[in-house]
Order: sequence, then C-alpha cells, then structure tokens
Amino acid sequence: MIVDKNGSPLTSADNLSPDTRHGMILYVEDVSVSFDGFKALNDLNLYIGDGELRCLIGANGAGKTTLMDVITGKTRPDTGKVSFGQQINLLELDESEIARAGVGRKFQKPTVFEALSVFENIELSLSGDKGIWTSLFHKLSGEQKDKIDEVLNTIGLEAERNYPAGRLSHGQKQWLEIGMLLAAEPRLLLVDEPVTGMTTQETERTAELLTSLAGKHSVVVVEHDMAFVRSIARKVTVLHQGTVLAEGSMDEVQANKDVREVYLGEEQD
Ligand SMILES: Nc1ncnc2c1ncn2[C@@H]1O[C@H](COP(=O)(O)OP(=O)(O)OP(=O)(O)O)[C@@H](O)[C@H]1O
Ligand SMILES: [Mg+2]
Repeated sequence: MIVDKNGSPLTSADNLSPDTRHGMILYVEDVSVSFDGFKALNDLNLYIGDGELRCLIGANGAGKTTLMDVITGKTRPDTGKVSFGQQINLLELDESEIARAGVGRKFQKPTVFEALSVFENIELSLSGDKGIWTSLFHKLSGEQKDKIDEVLNTIGLEAERNYPAGRLSHGQKQWLEIGMLLAAEPRLLLVDEPVTGMTTQETERTAELLTSLAGKHSVVVVEHDMAFVRSIARKVTVLHQGTVLAEGSMDEVQANKDVREVYLGEEQD
C-alpha cells in the first residue's frame, strides 16, 4: 500500500509522482541505522534537488551504500524520515513500491541478461510487472519502440542493439544496465561506484552519460574515483562515520579542513 507522509493511503486516483514544488526530490532527515549497536548512519540529513546531479564521497565504511539501502527500502532506519518529493513517505513502502514510485538503483555489478540482446534487455525493463515470456512475445507499440530507441541513443549502444548482452565490454554492460533503469523512467537514479573496473575511455563516456541525465532525472552518484567525481561534480556531499561532514563544490570540500583531515588529505599531500 502506498501512503502519504501522514500515513493516509493514496489511491490510484492520486498522483503518485513526487511533489517537487519546493524544488526538492529527496528528503533524508535525522536518519540513523545501527547494525549490532554500530551506527552505520548517524543522524544523517541529505536533501537532493529536483534534476540535480549529486556526488557522494567518503572513505570505505562511511555509510554511502547503507544510505542507498535506506532510500530504496532495503534497510529500514531506526529513526528519521525519508521522503520522495514532499508527500511520498518512502519508509512506508517496500522495495518494489519504491521502484515503481520512480526511484531507480544501479548496483555495482551489472545484472544484464547475457543471452538476450541489448534491445531485449531494455524491452524487459519497459514492461514492468509482466513476466519475461509475455514481455518478449507481446508486440511492442510504436511508442515503446521509440522509447527503446531513445534509451539506446542515450546510452550510446545503438550499433550494438542486436548483440547478445554477454558480448558487451564491462563498460557497455554498465551502460546497458543504466539504460534498463532509464526505460522505467525513474525520477531519481542512485548509482553506486559506476566506473569501477572501467577503462579511462569508458570512465569518460560514463561521465558524459551521467551528466546528460541530470535535469530530466535527479542522480546521486557514489564513487571513489576522485578524477571522475571532479569531472562530473556540481555539488559534492562528503560522508564520514554515517553523517555529513561537508557539502559544497569539489573545490570547497577539498579545501575543507575536516575533510582534508579525515579523507581527502590522505590522498592529496
Ligand atoms: N548488513 C550489515 N550488517 C552489519 N554491518 C553492516 C551492514 N551493512 C553495512 N555495515 C557496516 O556499516 C558501515 C557502513 O557501510 P557501507 O557499506 O554503507 O559503507 P560505504 O560508505 O558504502 O563503504 P564502501 O566505500 O567501502 O562501499 C560499515 O562499517 C559496514 O561494515
Ligand atoms: Mg559502498
């Protein structure tokens, strides 16, 4: 059941798209998560603007993946609020409801169907809840074909549309997976360590791709590759021990004394 912030059920007549009239698509407020007494997230506050591209950095164990787990309903926080737009309380929804409400998540390891073509992989994510066989054998509408073409164009895999996904390079598989998420038209995309294992060229292409998604989608990118972060970053949030240590432009956070002490300083001087 999908409910609003106050717990009232929303019916199908209600518009379930996030209310972003205040310019924000995601509100994470005072969120804490403990694992056996260890606070993986500690009174965390994060606000993502509608259409923003936000980079999230922080040392290993800072809580970045746990934060994505909380937003997507995989982990429930002990305390705090998480709201999609002003009105959709994500803590009341399960993982599939959160995905349907418009939150897409890309895990580190690509999970494409290797035996199916690039086109078919995207087609499957178009069809939502339908089973794999129905999806593959029902006739696509012109509109659906256009949507798949648009996604292929965005991810730069038009030429590979009929290749089995298993033949793609590591980087291309990652882009295909982003394409599969895009086919479901998410308003918010969470991307965890997208360029790990990519070649320099693939990393550059990924930077272009993620940058191109901002505006139409809101994107939160977690990444350790600082050159990559610098190449895409507008606003950067630094997590440390489950809480926000600093926020600002890449230059601002790199100049921040606390950040230099606990994180970037190690790499730089
Ligand atoms: N399911 C779990 N059970 C117990 N501890 C967990 C669990 N998930 C995460 N943790 C712990 O919570 C802390 C935060 O982990 P998290 O994976 O969110 O960090 P991260 O910032 O994503 O790190 P990395 O950059 O290495 O991916 C770590 O100390 C981790 O060991
Ligand atoms: Mg992680």
